[in-house]
Amino acid sequence: DEEKVFRHRGILYPTIMSPPENLEALGTLEARQEDVVLVAYPKCGFNWSAGVLRKIITTATGKKFTGGPPHIEFLTPEMQTALAKEASPRLMATHLHPDDMHPSFKEKKAKILVVWRNPKDTLVSFYHFMNNTPGLPNVEWDKFFTDFMKGEVLYGSYFDHVEAWEKLFNDPNVKMITYEDLKEDLSGGIRQISQFFGFPLTEEQVQTISAQSTFSAMKEDAVKTHGKFSTMLFRKGEVGDWKNHFSEAQSQQMAEEFNKRLAGTKLGAKLKY
Ligand code: PPS
Repeated sequence: DEEKVFRHRGILYPTIMSPPENLEALGTLEARQEDVVLVAYPKCGFNWSAGVLRKIITTATGKKFTGGPPHIEFLTPEMQTALAKEASPRLMATHLHPDDMHPSFKEKKAKILVVWRNPKDTLVSFYHFMNNTPGLPNVEWDKFFTDFMKGEVLYGSYFDHVEAWEKLFNDPNVKMITYEDLKEDLSGGIRQISQFFGFPLTEEQVQTISAQSTFSAMKEDAVKTHGKFSTMLFRKGEVGDWKNHFSEAQSQQMAEEFNKRLAGTKLGAKLKY
């Protein structure tokens, strides 16, 4: 499994999705103020919110997006060069830790949507993703649990990411939403996201996008466009699947780490489960 992952600035990355040359090239891919930026730690609802964002932008501006994963770190250097010339509003989406994003993302004051999910369900989703994705190392549950707690997983430590974004919790150019909030009220989430980015939608448009963005609608859509490959991105789509995976001791250990790292933080309060 050695060659399936590599380390870049101390963090593990999947070679198949974001090889070193992609990460190197990101060092020159600059943000614009008009960019729509989406950030999410892996398995927090990245593809869900990316789908929502694409639909919002297309509805509001007529701009069409072609398929393919929207992560900038998935783009080859050539694809990044093309993106650098693309007309605004561009969708710039990433799993990167904020310290590893190009400084222009903050300096240009692009608006950034950050999507979160409670750490237990994130870990469960991550575990299945590792085992269901060709090209990624297979993992065993207890070992993966320990690695996740240590941050020895792809894209780094969940807790490090939360701590970094906590500092930007009150930044007017940053909006945080959670997977759990979207599950509870998808239309409300779409309304908030479109307002934040300044793409006003009619109530009818909100309802249309909402209907197209449910788990089953998105899964069906993905099967049509990407075939079986898509099933690993649309596994279960539920809150609380951790109950089917965590032992009592693991649940306790997660609670302890959560309290140690995130107790008293505003973002931590949103990630309680
Ligand atoms: S990735 O690989 O990091 O980009 O994965 P990511 O897209 O962040 O997360 C995948 C999980 O999101 C679930 N998902 C959804 N849930 C609800 N509604 C919709 N529309 C939706 N789309 C994707 C997907 O099923 C993964 O969660 P699990 O718990 O594994 O099912």
